Amino acid sequence: MIFIKSKREIELMRKTCALARDALLFVGEYVTPGVTTEKLNQLCHDYITERGAIPSPLNYHGFPKSICTSLNEVICHGIPSEKHIVRDGDILNIDVTTCLDGFHGDTNMTFIVGEVAPEVRKLVEVTYECLKEGIHQVRPGARIGNIGAVILKLASENNYSVVEEYCGHGIGRAFHEEPQVLHYGKRNTGVVLKEGMTFTIEPMINMGEKHCELQKDKWTVLTSDRSLSAQFEHTILVTGDGYEVLTLRPGEVI
Ligand code: MF3
Ligand code: CO
Ligand code: CO
Repeated sequence: MIFIKSKREIELMRKTCALARDALLFVGEYVTPGVTTEKLNQLCHDYITERGAIPSPLNYHGFPKSICTSLNEVICHGIPSEKHIVRDGDILNIDVTTCLDGFHGDTNMTFIVGEVAPEVRKLVEVTYECLKEGIHQVRPGARIGNIGAVILKLASENNYSVVEEYCGHGIGRAFHEEPQVLHYGKRNTGVVLKEGMTFTIEPMINMGEKHCELQKDKWTVLTSDRSLSAQFEHTILVTGDGYEVLTLRPGEVI
């Protein structure tokens, strides 16, 4: 069941998505060498709750924290911890999801900490381009497979791999709802997009192989070959003639 959001529901999606975006930008200011991922979690938790919302990850299927913090070879779902200190040369993905007035907004970005090697910067830049190219495929009447097809093409051209086990998702009253948004696949396959659908696109791109491994904590997903992994995520609305990026940042052009 894919929900088509009403005008009123879209207005609520805009609000929660703006909050998720603002929370991500707020916490991003604290991403500097020496900060722990637990500190980032606390800052973001307070930012969200002080604005009358709930951090969606907290207690979601037992997830113990309010944001996901995924460092270097961690693909996604990293658990904030006092033990994880951010260091110069790291890449850190912070994934923020808010629930405001019953609707979820979901966005993430990979931060570069201090100075990183040129090949690491390139991984992060290409991953962001993968998200943008995926978003450019969104319009009513297009098939959802077009999104994954362009992401896979761009990643492959750069000798990177696309994670297959985790995908984008419909979002609204539920954190994760239909449809699934694969980051690989074929053009002109899958669900036909319709005005009023809301979903995320959130490609996870690895410098090495695509395979993942789940850590003993049952949450942290890392690359099997321990190569670096980057990710960017936006929540998207299908409009009458294309898309609206509900989590768009000020000055960001997509
Ligand atoms: N925010 C993640 C996503 O983009 C999901 C995190 S689930 C959690 O879908 F439980 F790990 F928080
Ligand atoms: Co998501
Ligand atoms: Co997310």
